[in-house]
Amino acid sequence: MKNEILRIGEEALRELKELDGLEALQELKVKVLGKKGSLTALLRQMGSLAPEERPIMGQVVNEMRSRLEQAWEERSAELDVLSLQKRLATERIDITLPGVRVTRGHHHPVTQVVEEIEDIFLGMGFQIAEGPEIETDYYNFEALNLPKEHPAREMQDSFYITEEILLRTHTSPVQIRTMEKLCPALPVKIIAPGTVYRNDDDATHSPMFHQVEGLVLDRGIRLSDLKGILLNFSRQMFGESREIRLRPSFFPFTEPSAEVDISCMLCGGAGCRLCKGTGWIEVLGSGMVHPKVIKMGGYNPSEVTGFAFGMGVERIAMLKFGIEDMRLLFDNDLRFLQQF
Ligand code: PHE
Repeated sequence: MKNEILRIGEEALRELKELDGLEALQELKVKVLGKKGSLTALLRQMGSLAPEERPIMGQVVNEMRSRLEQAWEERSAELDVLSLQKRLATERIDITLPGVRVTRGHHHPVTQVVEEIEDIFLGMGFQIAEGPEIETDYYNFEALNLPKEHPAREMQDSFYITEEILLRTHTSPVQIRTMEKLCPALPVKIIAPGTVYRNDDDATHSPMFHQVEGLVLDRGIRLSDLKGILLNFSRQMFGESREIRLRPSFFPFTEPSAEVDISCMLCGGAGCRLCKGTGWIEVLGSGMVHPKVIKMGGYNPSEVTGFAFGMGVERIAMLKFGIEDMRLLFDNDLRFLQQF
């Protein structure tokens, strides 16, 4: 029996040297010292020994067991170090390598201009309103004093979805929607930026483009208020030395109506290629809100008056950045967009 104990012990010690991981170490421990382990099995047989032999065998077993335990401790510490070294070797990273650079984008020039326009009008106490891009014939035309068969409808080539539903051709329907929502509150003082659609496509027209609508409604609003607000806007947008002029025009939803020109930002008004020699650049349509439109919005036109305007954002971006073809804004060519 003694030999048996020594044989099991020595073999375990040899295996211990060869095994290469903490798992294998644990397995070996179970195999020898575990409940069903080989040494444990021998211990069970102690009962069948002669009484005088028992203490001797007991000592042999205990010695072997403590040798094994010590060896286990040592091997386990060694394996710990080995596994750490292995991880350090394989998981090593070179912190001196240059990192993966995340390039940072910026807003599209059209978005930049919309935000700049918003900032300027927010600074003058306006609020921002929105409306749907898929609009009904009623809001896009009827309520803006453009009945069916009205020749002015042809000023805007529309994308119809059904006879009553279309992609909005301008942001003016937001005038009606806002009045309906706010009525009878006063003043109404909003801008409505957004995307609009017309069947048009050349260097200065895109089938999808952006407008910013403006609407001010209160008791006693006058044409001079329109002019003052737009002069303030023009100077903040294009420089303090800008002047504006109002040219008589026509829109069914304003009366009187005016096109607003800004003194040329390139030549200052002397006349150049940009302003085609006139010294003025047309930037937006405007006018005093037509009494019928005020009424459509729910207000009483004999008590309140107001003005409205609508500007094309791409046009303003082109003037501001010196872009000659509107389509460049929508080609999504980074070489172009990164310049702004
Ligand atoms: N909705 C007009 C257009 O798209 C612009 C406009 C808005 C004119 C408000 C007057 C008042 O052409």
